[in-house]
Amino acid sequence: MRTRKQGTAMSAESLFTPFTIKSLSLPNRIVMAPMTRSFSPGGIPTDDVAAYYRRRAEGGVGLIFTEGTAIERPAAKSNDAHPDFFGHGLTGWSKVFEAVHSAGGRIAPQLWHVGSVHPEEKDGNDPNEPIDSPSGIRAPEGAFGQPMTEEMIQDTIDAFAASARHAQKIGADAINIHAAHGYLIDQFFWALTNRRDDRWGGEDIGSRSRFAAEVIRAIRSAVGPDLPIIIRLSQWKQQDYTVRLATTPTEMHAWLEPMADAGIDMFDCSQRRFWEPEFEGSDLNFAGWVKKISGLPTITVGSVGLDAEFLSFFTDRKMAPAPVDELVRRLERGDFDLVAVGRALLGDPHWAEKIREGRASELLAFDRSVMRTLT
Ligand SMILES: Cc1cc2nc3c(=O)[nH]c(=O)nc-3n(C[C@H](O)[C@H](O)[C@H](O)COP(=O)(O)O)c2cc1C
Repeated sequence: MRTRKQGTAMSAESLFTPFTIKSLSLPNRIVMAPMTRSFSPGGIPTDDVAAYYRRRAEGGVGLIFTEGTAIERPAAKSNDAHPDFFGHGLTGWSKVFEAVHSAGGRIAPQLWHVGSVHPEEKDGNDPNEPIDSPSGIRAPEGAFGQPMTEEMIQDTIDAFAASARHAQKIGADAINIHAAHGYLIDQFFWALTNRRDDRWGGEDIGSRSRFAAEVIRAIRSAVGPDLPIIIRLSQWKQQDYTVRLATTPTEMHAWLEPMADAGIDMFDCSQRRFWEPEFEGSDLNFAGWVKKISGLPTITVGSVGLDAEFLSFFTDRKMAPAPVDELVRRLERGDFDLVAVGRALLGDPHWAEKIREGRASELLAFDRSVMRTLT
């Protein structure tokens, strides 16, 4: 936990400089991090969900990533109130996108498949339908379901592409692919959950990146060359926060290269504390190393604007606002291009404009009671 005093000694001006990538032009560097809210019964975002995202656009967020939203595969989500990005879900998302755009904002859906992360045996999903996972493993417990067949893998890749095409049709400003936190794509990256000996698995992290790369290729061919495609990666897994997929810059290169070759435009680098160095001998964080190695733009995230990291979310502790000086120092040094903000924006839709206007004393503390409603 940081102990620095609250305040915005350093100017936050650089957070409010424009940024352009392909067809996406942003007025500032602040991104709303994807955050699951479970307020979309039957998979359809309601008018309240639209108003919730609209408030963040009105509050000056440059780009909004939606919460994870399911692609059209059996058991792609683990809760009926998680939104779908297909079928009737699209009606709700159209309203959300319209609401954000009419407030002058920009929005990108986070396309999600949970893989074998199911808290209960199927969580209301059809028990006759298979659960997708690379090797039929649910970490850390072990065997769960069947390994995906070649046909299931292809259908899943097609489902990601179909959702991306729908997104483009209803006006998405970019696509975010959820490949982090131990969900399906991450289960392919992770040696513990990917034991395949065909082309979708392998000893080295580069071979286990093939599934992600093929998802990117399929999305690219569905949406054309101009819509930015962003992928969210993390070293940590919700099943084990100590896991690191890439323990050296060389391994990180092997991990990223297939995705870069497949045409990814930007990496969204999920970390719990943005100031933590990724490898010894440098203070560069995860987003800093990914940018250095790939040469592509990156997004950082992790406890921006708060004095405690996101696992405190599961406690009753109140999280106080924290200064953004260190973040700004790294942004100005060119370590990353955009900054995603999670809990600080959940608690305070006006966080971005308060930072811009130097209204530090008006920043709100965060506690998890905000999760009960869509404030
Ligand atoms: C309530 C909640 C829901 C989240 N849901 C998602 C999600 O759907 N997809 C995702 O990639 N990350 C998700 N995250 C992680 C956040 O995007 C973010 O990376 C994390 O909260 C760290 O940022 P923060 O410290 O600014 O909150 C979630 C976090 C929270 C607190």
